[in-house]
Amino acid sequence: MQHFIEKMPKAELHVHLEGTLEPELSFALANKNGVVLAYETPEALVAAYDFYDLPSFLAIYYAGMNVLVEEDDFYQLTYAYLVKARSQETIYAELFFDPQAHTSRGVSFDTVITGIHQAQVDAEKKLGIKSQLIMCFLREMSAESAMQHLELAKPYRNLLVGVGLDSDERDNPPIKFYDVFREAKAMGLKLTMHCDVNQQDSLIHIKQCISDIQVDRIDHGINSLESEELCELIKDKKLGLTVCPVSNQFVVQSLTSVEIHKMLKKDMLVTINSDDPAYFRAYLNENLVQLQKEGKFSQEQIVTLVGNAFKVAWLDDATQNGYL
Ligand code: HPA
Ligand code: ZN
Repeated sequence: MQHFIEKMPKAELHVHLEGTLEPELSFALANKNGVVLAYETPEALVAAYDFYDLPSFLAIYYAGMNVLVEEDDFYQLTYAYLVKARSQETIYAELFFDPQAHTSRGVSFDTVITGIHQAQVDAEKKLGIKSQLIMCFLREMSAESAMQHLELAKPYRNLLVGVGLDSDERDNPPIKFYDVFREAKAMGLKLTMHCDVNQQDSLIHIKQCISDIQVDRIDHGINSLESEELCELIKDKKLGLTVCPVSNQFVVQSLTSVEIHKMLKKDMLVTINSDDPAYFRAYLNENLVQLQKEGKFSQEQIVTLVGNAFKVAWLDDATQNGYL
């Protein structure tokens, strides 16, 4: 089964580029940019990864970004992820990035997006992995800041496929960003939002995503299973759910295989993803392999999970049909 998973052509729809920053690259960039890291070696850095909920993860994730300063740093980050993904037979990826986490440190929007985009272009040409970019807003920051970043993105509109919402969910409901997401939709961008597992007001947040924001997908969305009404809405609207098993393990001490079985049984369009693979020490293959072991998924079910990702990917029909 492991071999079968590793050899399958796959798509990844939920991966934060900043969450793909491997410790070795972190040290190389820190040296180059004169940034002092709190640890002596990459091994010591990994040993200090101590996550037990979303805020404890986010604190380490944001601290890690300080080494990303120049355009080429964003290029290297993105290219390294695409090399790794392609080596795992991932042939298509939709990539999140968090511009506010960089502009707030004095790194320009242009530096970030130009470095990322150039790596995407080169990786498609040299490695044969296609990718598209999703700009995320940090939900603990203001709606005004999100709107300012949407404005900053306008000259780069063609480099983006959609917008998302991530970071700390506590007291930051989807509706806070209603106007920003209306404007993004008017720009022709696709919409998604994180509803992480077991967060405060999870069901209210999922309902707002669907009914108020009118998202095209939901990131995570595990808690929708607690409401028949939400499951029906998700099915009716054919919304993809980008579930991240190893990430969930840190938050709820489970790969959520029981929940993924339930979603498959209900014919919900659930997909498997890695979220922040450098921090959670698991890329897409490791997520699928560990999930399959825990949940004893059949080969057919694995094919469905992987196929769902191509089905709910934000691709034009011709490209999508080529993959399906
Ligand atoms: N959840 C919310 N925000 C994030 C995550 C996550 O798993 N990773 C990076 N930003
Ligand atoms: Zn995420």
